[in-house]
Amino acid sequence: MIGSQITFAEDEKSDGGRTEKRPLIISTWPFGKPGNEVALKTVEAGKSTLDAVEAGIRHVEASGNQTVGLSGKPNAAGFAQLDACIMHGPGHKAGSVAAIEGIKHPISVARRVMEKTPHVMLAGDGARWFALQEGFESIDISERPKKVKAWKKEQKQRRSEAPAGSAENHDTITMLVLGPDGTLSGGCSTSGLADKLPGRVGDSPILGGGLYVDNKVGAAGATGIGENVMRYCATFMIVEFMRQGLSPTDACKKIIERIKSYEPENKNLAINFIAIDKQGRFGAAGTDKFPHSVTYPGFSEVLTADAV
Ligand code: GLY
Repeated sequence: MIGSQITFAEDEKSDGGRTEKRPLIISTWPFGKPGNEVALKTVEAGKSTLDAVEAGIRHVEASGNQTVGLSGKPNAAGFAQLDACIMHGPGHKAGSVAAIEGIKHPISVARRVMEKTPHVMLAGDGARWFALQEGFESIDISERPKKVKAWKKEQKQRRSEAPAGSAENHDTITMLVLGPDGTLSGGCSTSGLADKLPGRVGDSPILGGGLYVDNKVGAAGATGIGENVMRYCATFMIVEFMRQGLSPTDACKKIIERIKSYEPENKNLAINFIAIDKQGRFGAAGTDKFPHSVTYPGFSEVLTADAV
């Protein structure tokens, strides 16, 4: 902690917090905290909330994290395919890349898709081709067939050690930033579910799935098993719940309760959400206890949301 306490709104029905300080940054997991601090410095240096999201997520993509960026766990064929998206509140702008290979910073490619093309999402070989055309840092992927062979040999043992879908196999950096002028931006980046089938796309590059930003209301982001998030348009719903007056925490809890009500009781959904509203309230919830990072001037902490 580098300063003052979180202040809790009197009318808050559950945990979460509120601050008047800006920028306010919230991200998934403890590994989001250094990324938040990069985002904070970016805004303090006079740059935009969009610049802050990109810089903060780039920091995590380059950190050697096992579930984000090129250092993330490979898919079932032995290579990493990365998903990312970015949204900027003003103008309701968005860009996204899915199943992109060999590119160091998918979040920056997503931003370039948003800013330089008439499209929202590029996938697979086309996304890599675009990134190379634009000069983004890349690695050679021509060795892929050899990797596939080696990986297949170890597959049985690997799956018994950490089956696809288990908790250690699916963490995403998702970051939301509320700027001094009320602007909201957000982004996500992940290598996705370890051992996923090649071509599998998770929730993280799907708007309204892994991320949703509405500059009039708030923003929400997800981490966890993408299939359990994207089938319910979960972050879109969280923002809509906030529009109806729920606090960020209660909105995150409500979508988890809704999703649970549709799923078998004993299913391990492994889903977690963060949210922030236009007033500077923030919150989170997960199907298990969910550590997430909150940063604003004078404060940077990992908080833990209760399991729903
Ligand atoms: N949430 C990351 C994924 O399922 O790919």
